[in-house]
Amino acid sequence: MIDQQCADLLKSRGYLVTSFAALDGSELLESFRTFIHQVRDYQLRFLQKRYGYAYDGFSYYGQTDSSHQAADDLISTFVFSEFYPVDRYPEEFQGFLKGGWHNVVEIVRSLETDLLTQLDIPGLLDFYRQNAGHMVSNNYYPPQQQFTTTAADNTRLSAHPDASLFTVFPFGIDKELELQVVGECGESVWKSVDAVDSILLYPGYLMEMWSQGALKAMNHRVRLSANSAAERFTFSFFSLPFPQREFEMPGRGLMTSESYFSAYGALF
Ligand SMILES: [Fe+2]
Repeated sequence: MIDQQCADLLKSRGYLVTSFAALDGSELLESFRTFIHQVRDYQLRFLQKRYGYAYDGFSYYGQTDSSHQAADDLISTFVFSEFYPVDRYPEEFQGFLKGGWHNVVEIVRSLETDLLTQLDIPGLLDFYRQNAGHMVSNNYYPPQQQFTTTAADNTRLSAHPDASLFTVFPFGIDKELELQVVGECGESVWKSVDAVDSILLYPGYLMEMWSQGALKAMNHRVRLSANSAAERFTFSFFSLPFPQREFEMPGRGLMTSESYFSAYGALF
């Protein structure tokens, strides 16, 4: 359950490993694995630029015009969301999108609603209820041995905060995620997160902006693996505003969903 202690932990540590067991992500994993093994020409039919809002679509290692990943990040991703009709997405995902997706989003939504209730940030729960939808970033890290270079600062995925209100990992997470937390002497340190078999989450930039810095977006990265032959899959769920919404952002005045993404994009 999400109680006051969870909200306090999130505020003091900057992230939260919940007491909820990770959900079964095997259906989505198999769907994504099938898509990843398709030929590149097929994958390019679903490029991010063919969608246009948030991060929906395919992005790949070496791509210079993805807003979802840096060109040297050792990763390929496919994002789908509640922001487009289901039939816009590849057939590999259709079974999941018409079934399990709704259940996972409902659980994530319920968890986020409980946490926002405990956090009690004025107006934020109403904003969330009126404007927030969900996307999932399906993340594939090929074996490192395929690459001759690394991402920035010798990582597999370079450091960044997410655009989300919360980033949630409903299927848990594999090892090698690193979070930038505040150390005992107030210094900034990279903390390694071991493989986690519970649902975990951290705030993104939408939370930082909404709370006017009271809750900071978690800067995170993925370190290189000791096993250069190992693949890595993760599934991160973002809560984001639906397209073309207008809302009052504390300290900033009226914003639209699109102007929010511009503000987030200006961080890079
Ligand atoms: Fe991220």
